Amino acid sequence: MEQIDIKPINELAKPIQYLGAKNRVIDSILNESENYIGEGYVLDLFSGSSIVSQAYSNIGKNVISNDVQKFSGIISKTFLKVDFEPSFLNFPLDILFKNSDNKYFGIYADWIKKEDFFLKKRDTKSLLNLYKNFPLIWNRKNNKSEEVNNIFEKMITHLYEPAFNIAPLFTTIYAGTYFGIKQSIQIDNHRRRLEELLNNDNINSWQYNLVLTSLISTISQIVNSAGKHFAQPIKFENILKNDLLESRLYKNRLIDIDSVLSENIINNISLIKNNTSLTKNIVISKTMESVIENIDVLPKIDLIYADPPYTAQQYSRFYHIPEILIEYKIPELQIHRDKVTTGLYPSDKFKSRFCSMVKAPEAFSDLFKLTKNTESTLLLSYSKSLSEDNGNKRMITIDQLEKLKDEIIPNYQMQIVELDLKYKQLNNHDSINQKTDSIEVLIVFSKDIINL
Ligand SMILES: C[S@@+](CC[C@H](N)C(=O)[O-])C[C@H]1O[C@@H](n2cnc3c(N)ncnc32)[C@H](O)[C@@H]1O
Repeated sequence: MEQIDIKPINELAKPIQYLGAKNRVIDSILNESENYIGEGYVLDLFSGSSIVSQAYSNIGKNVISNDVQKFSGIISKTFLKVDFEPSFLNFPLDILFKNSDNKYFGIYADWIKKEDFFLKKRDTKSLLNLYKNFPLIWNRKNNKSEEVNNIFEKMITHLYEPAFNIAPLFTTIYAGTYFGIKQSIQIDNHRRRLEELLNNDNINSWQYNLVLTSLISTISQIVNSAGKHFAQPIKFENILKNDLLESRLYKNRLIDIDSVLSENIINNISLIKNNTSLTKNIVISKTMESVIENIDVLPKIDLIYADPPYTAQQYSRFYHIPEILIEYKIPELQIHRDKVTTGLYPSDKFKSRFCSMVKAPEAFSDLFKLTKNTESTLLLSYSKSLSEDNGNKRMITIDQLEKLKDEIIPNYQMQIVELDLKYKQLNNHDSINQKTDSIEVLIVFSKDIINL
């Protein structure tokens, strides 16, 4: 049997704090997979933060990495070295930070100055008041600036179009909520400049993905939300009442985007420099359903690793802002009871069948059919809930999965491996996605009898 050389976890890139990322169970996943991968590919069908795809690639397995979210595809292309040559690592970083013409700094100069002043003085009341009155596309606060009004007008007439030459999206949608005013303008500036650099052939597409990945990490580091995701900004009222939230606000808002971005790029470059894997990987950003439809164009698959969502929580709600950053199209915001949602969600978020009690069984049937058609082994991550009454109810049970397996792939064995997650009890004080009442499980569906 081929001996797998499992590299230490710290060589894998963790560009974003991602809910449900499999960081701590990677070794078990690799160990459970090793008997089932030959010359064919591993299909990581719901790759999220890309960490599992990276791990397979690190042990020399070719990977097809897929996730419906585009930002996930950008991260995967960066670390799975798609369209990459080592020489691409040597590009002058200063072209990213050169003072390009940024008219937006001018338009918002007064706001930036005030924000800076209140931040330095730790004047929370004035700072939050400034944010409350900052003109955003969805609040249209008493705004005397003709230039800002022009931007808003254009946004309305160019809905769903690329915003690069129309409006600074972060500044007009999120400034003062998830991010600061200056931070938002800096993010917009980098995003626009990056597109320009790509279009003018100053950087190639891998370098573009590398910088975008680093920018995704940057917004994930500075975002003012409880769990470093983008489901809700911390409310002003709560900040005023809670010292911890207040200090978190200052910590987040005082971070300088340019420094963090360049640090992230440099770190990512050094990770990739040290990454010696020579795998030929493929990255797709489609729904599972559409991957299935087009399965014939993909190379032979030995193993499908599937880590779909299991609760009603849609990932597109937690990570809508990285999607906006990548697509950079003017979104229509979702309206609920005549108001935009507090999360500032776009109205056309992707809704996964895996997050619906009614639709999940169909979605899993399709996954089993794919396993059958590709004659591959299916390694399914599952998290068993220890209590069913906390809003984290699973959309499908293991018994239901077994029934579906018996119908669709009756000749397959099913083996359940419970993973030891003691670490969660040890670390659960520092971030909400560590707090768990679940047990991680791997379910192996294989044609051949598993050697125990
Ligand atoms: C539990 S997360 C995967 C985490 C990943 N294994 C990691 O370690 O980072 C589930 C992922 O499934 C994706 N997803 C949900 N429904 C999907 C669908 N129908 N097709 C493709 N991806 C989907 C979500 O975008 C999310 O990133």
